[in-house]
Amino acid sequence: MDLVDPFGRTIRDLRISVTDRCNFRCTYCMPEEGMKWLPRSEVLTFEEIERLAAIFVERFEVDGLRLTGGEPTVRAHMPVLVAKLAALRVPASSSSPLAGCKPDLSLTTNGATFRLVAHELRDAGLDRVNISLDTLQRERFLQMTRRDELVRVLDGIEAAKEAGFNPVKINAVVERGVNDDEIVALATFGRERNVEVRFIEFMPLDASGHWMNDKVVSQDEIVAAINAVYPLEQVAARGSAPADRWRYTDGAGMIGVIPTITKPFCGDCDRVRLTAEGQFRTCLFATTEFDLLKLMRGGASDDDLAAEIQRAVGTKWAGHQINQVNFIRPARSMSQIGG
Ligand code: GTP
Ligand code: 5AD
Ligand code: SF4
Repeated sequence: MDLVDPFGRTIRDLRISVTDRCNFRCTYCMPEEGMKWLPRSEVLTFEEIERLAAIFVERFEVDGLRLTGGEPTVRAHMPVLVAKLAALRVPASSSSPLAGCKPDLSLTTNGATFRLVAHELRDAGLDRVNISLDTLQRERFLQMTRRDELVRVLDGIEAAKEAGFNPVKINAVVERGVNDDEIVALATFGRERNVEVRFIEFMPLDASGHWMNDKVVSQDEIVAAINAVYPLEQVAARGSAPADRWRYTDGAGMIGVIPTITKPFCGDCDRVRLTAEGQFRTCLFATTEFDLLKLMRGGASDDDLAAEIQRAVGTKWAGHQINQVNFIRPARSMSQIGG
């Protein structure tokens, strides 16, 4: 049965945060110090994640599962979780292109320790990986992530390709005055390494609250900067994915831009989220959560959980209100939601 929200959007994609912890402290996401980590007992176990994921995939025909964090690879035994999720099947009767198959399994990582797990994750059934890389300059990398890990992240990207992930995408958050002078350099990196770089408009989900509208570099600016050096043509039909895409006219690959602020794509949104402590959210910017962990640990049946999920999806709003007077920042920052 499809999970449909009040605006007629069918939910197809579940983002699962497996931990609130991270080995980086990116300035646009976390504070330098003082994050309070969840106690282990409040984090969903693999069995609980599997149970909820099964409800989404097998009952509600969700065909994409993305594992996020914090940093998902800091959680031990991730291949075990991936193998459990890879055993799920989208119902054969579904209208999804993956009917009868396993859901599309992907992971978003900062890449620093990815080499250590790349092969195991691939063997367990992970299909795709997106790796964050906002700068190619070592000093700046240290400033932006507060960790001197550029070399290991670059190696993590190579490890992802070697392990057979395809595509490997790069996520670059662009912040004015911080790394906007590297847009073309990052595009060049993508062309040379044969990876799709996706530029992300900075969103008001940083823990420090320094987000301001004038720090956002718009999709139009990003595309113009690249197009001036490497001519681009837009690829039609984004569908429900957040990234608009362009191809290089010389055939050297693609770029994407995730234009949350200047060209919101909420009207096509097909996603919902589960935080590491089992809170169900119907939007990245949602201010209400539904406590599936408490329900589960209180003895709820799958029918009870499914009913609560439907109730929650019934509250999904039309879109975020960033830059409007009634916008309220979520109490959580990005690492606590899962991106
Ligand atoms: P693909 O399935 O590979 O296209 O990945 P994705 O772009 O959906 O996910 P990823 O985890 O790589 O996230 C890239 C950026 O998109 C991050 O900054 C996310 O916060 C952002 N993002 C993901 N989902 C949403 C969404 O529903 N709304 C908004 N505004 N941003 C999102
Ligand atoms: N704005 C935009 N993207 C962000 N990310 C983290 N914080 C922000 C923010 N404030 C991105 C990371 C990663 C993804 C999960 O979310 O760079 O690619
Ligand atoms: Fe960690 Fe990702 Fe947040 Fe950076 S953006 S601090 S890598 S969770």
